[in-house]
Amino acid sequence: MKYLRKITLAQLPTALHEIPAFARRLGHQGKIYIKRDDLSGLAAGGNKTRKLEYLMADALQQGADAVITAGGLQSNHCLQTATAARKLGMDCYLVLSGEKPEHFNGNLFLDLLTGANIEYVTRAEREQSMEKIAADLRFRGKKPYVIPVGGSNPLGAVGYVMAMSEILRQFELMRIACNRIVIAASSGGTLAGLVLGAAMGGYTGKITGISIDRQARGADAFPPQLARLANQCAQLLEVDLRLKAEDFELEYGYLGAGYGVVGDNERRAVRMLAESEGLFVGPVYTGRALGALIDCIEKGKWQNETICFWHTGDMTALFDYSADLL
Ligand SMILES: Cc1ncc(COP(=O)(O)O)c(C=O)c1O
Repeated sequence: MKYLRKITLAQLPTALHEIPAFARRLGHQGKIYIKRDDLSGLAAGGNKTRKLEYLMADALQQGADAVITAGGLQSNHCLQTATAARKLGMDCYLVLSGEKPEHFNGNLFLDLLTGANIEYVTRAEREQSMEKIAADLRFRGKKPYVIPVGGSNPLGAVGYVMAMSEILRQFELMRIACNRIVIAASSGGTLAGLVLGAAMGGYTGKITGISIDRQARGADAFPPQLARLANQCAQLLEVDLRLKAEDFELEYGYLGAGYGVVGDNERRAVRMLAESEGLFVGPVYTGRALGALIDCIEKGKWQNETICFWHTGDMTALFDYSADLL
């Protein structure tokens, strides 16, 4: 395997610990662990830190002095990118889909504190808007670096190949025989990296991605896209492994009323973890994914399994959803 250049943005390894009171409350017979990438060490934490370690190293190597990325109004990825840019002395341009709100809250509020330049557009306009900002900056003699939505390109996914290697060492040291990892999936770089890392490291348990915003059907079905991303990542790493769409296990039944809409599933998950363990998951990604885990266990699907919920962050977005959660 080829080692790619990275910079340190995260405090690694992130903690891995059991959440026994949560398991008891659910009546689950096996053990449940939580991998704390919400404590990644950059800004308010989250999965994007590991991707940015590789993406920002590439930006620096290319001599970039500004980064541009896009996401939703409460995007964790955008906040993480803005803080990473500041840490490295770069300007940051965020293209956010949604209307400029009257009051700023959650991640958007923190974006503004970093002094990031923000543009509000529709979801369909995001790509074009990023290109336009990049062109304007180049015209002014700046060197912008564009990071795709979610940091989900083959280089970003390397962060989660390495995360898999990290957790496999923790499983070994802590003598955890993990049957299943459960994690939120959206732009896919996190899951693609983990599944590739699992194949490289010989992990024999399952990895279940909970789709946060994609339907199971459609021409752009998610698993082939994940396999493509993982295979491009393998090529970058010069690893002789190829994954297929069937290597990705996804649950699509938890989309509720759509992306970012909090319903009973998310409400219950946020409250159950907070009440039982004093820990917080977010409303958009981790609350939805933990809600799926709760539902699958209640339906008896994963009986007696040792499960690891991979906490990918998103807690700061809770503040924008207080009315939906209480
Ligand atoms: C908190 C959180 N969890 C999970 C994800 C999903 O990661 P990916 O986009 O790599 O699938 C995201 C993506 O934005 C996120 O912000």
